[in-house]
Amino acid sequence: MPAVVIVGAQWGDEGKGKATDLLGSRVDYVVKFNGGNNAGHTVVIGDQKFALHLLPSGILTPGCTPVIGNGVVVDLAVLFQEIDALIARGVDPSDLLVSNAAHVIAPYARTLDNVTERFLGKRKIGTTGRGIGPAYADKINRLGIRIGDLFDESVLREKIEGALVAKNHLLVKVYNRRAIRVDEVAEQLLAYRDRLAPMVTDTSLVLNEALDRGETVLFEGGQATMLDVDHGTYPFVTSSNATAGGACTGSGVGPTRIDAVIGIVKAYTTRVGEGPMPTELNDGFGERLRAVGHEYGTTTGRPRRCGWYDAVIARYASRINGLTDFVLTKLDVLTGIDTIPVCVAYDIDGVRHQDLPQDQAAFANAVPVYEEFEGWTEDISKARTFEELPTAAQRYVLALEELSGCRISAIGVGPGRDEIVVRHDLIHARGE
Ligand code: GDP
Ligand code: IMO
Ligand code: MG
Repeated sequence: MPAVVIVGAQWGDEGKGKATDLLGSRVDYVVKFNGGNNAGHTVVIGDQKFALHLLPSGILTPGCTPVIGNGVVVDLAVLFQEIDALIARGVDPSDLLVSNAAHVIAPYARTLDNVTERFLGKRKIGTTGRGIGPAYADKINRLGIRIGDLFDESVLREKIEGALVAKNHLLVKVYNRRAIRVDEVAEQLLAYRDRLAPMVTDTSLVLNEALDRGETVLFEGGQATMLDVDHGTYPFVTSSNATAGGACTGSGVGPTRIDAVIGIVKAYTTRVGEGPMPTELNDGFGERLRAVGHEYGTTTGRPRRCGWYDAVIARYASRINGLTDFVLTKLDVLTGIDTIPVCVAYDIDGVRHQDLPQDQAAFANAVPVYEEFEGWTEDISKARTFEELPTAAQRYVLALEELSGCRISAIGVGPGRDEIVVRHDLIHARGE
């Protein structure tokens, strides 16, 4: 039975939560493998709306085991706030498993995230302010605190001490802040230890054994291809690998076990935070997409920057992730637009580029080359088969498929769980 990876194909908020939830009842495990509570995944079930930040969306499906993998950075306060909020709404999160190798977002990581952004001034990244960058920086610098460290107090104190030496110099001498004491950090982290203990395990072992038994595992990516620290629009990215490779390193499941890689892509483009976005619209169309698509951040509430579909980016995502399928979301948001432009290439200093330029300045100067497609006016939210879509909408989807490098297997026509047109089964074995 398959292991399936879901990743964002653009700059995030493509509808990964909805896609994960859609498949939830057919999978045994849903694994979050990267990022932390910078994510905001919305799932709409009937008249209930859930916004998940740190927990995998599989937590909403009874019988599906949610897993926080080793590649995640965990803010323990947020973890338990989110768990308690779900319990209050009748969801049972007691199956949750957390990797002992996942890193903790220590309280000082948040402080550093915010002061760094302030000091960057106009060069700021526009982070979510959740301490993500500093937590991953500590991991890579070998100064991180792992979930497993909480269970040996003397090791924990030693590690906090090690992590704070340089940070306190920085905080006091450069940023004019007060020094952070080892005791206060240790106390804050240890407060969660007893509640955390029954969830903590070797999640790589659990997942590989599940695959050995023939169970289905779904990997739910946070962020997206263009926010990936290696393959995104660096430095305007997050600090983890949000692409398909991250599912392996962030979970301890090898690449030979992955059957399908599904890219979630919106029928237009959005971005939150700073950094280049070639198809961004600063006109009435941009405002329309924002209003009709409710494009405001799930995590920070910031208005999302909106623009037309960018097929150069979709092709890039297809290549970098080795996509087997796309789920095209929010097609309904385009209803009522007379002609819909799609970016098919970039013009950079008079030269046409079919592929994403690797040079940061070139990408910042990319001017979209648009092709226009006929729009439709009919309400598409009730369509459940491809044939039920208006002909112009069908043509738009087929054109995107042709331009984007892999098949479009499902099409979102509304936020609800069932508001989707499925063309090919998303859970499939390799090569199917
Ligand atoms: P994620 O971060 O990729 O999980 O996406 P978000 O949840 O941050 O943002 C996607 C938003 O679009 C959510 O509010 C979803 O409920 C909504 N959504 C998902 N698919 C569709 C769709 O096909 N049509 C419409 N109108 N909304 C959708
Ligand atoms: P989901 O999973 C959209 C963006 C931030 C900022 C940059 C770095 O819901 O798609 P960070 O706090 O990670 O250091 O911020 O990345 N960003 C997201 N944008 N969706 C997300 O998650 C995001 N997570 C981070 O806005 O530009
Ligand atoms: Mg989101």
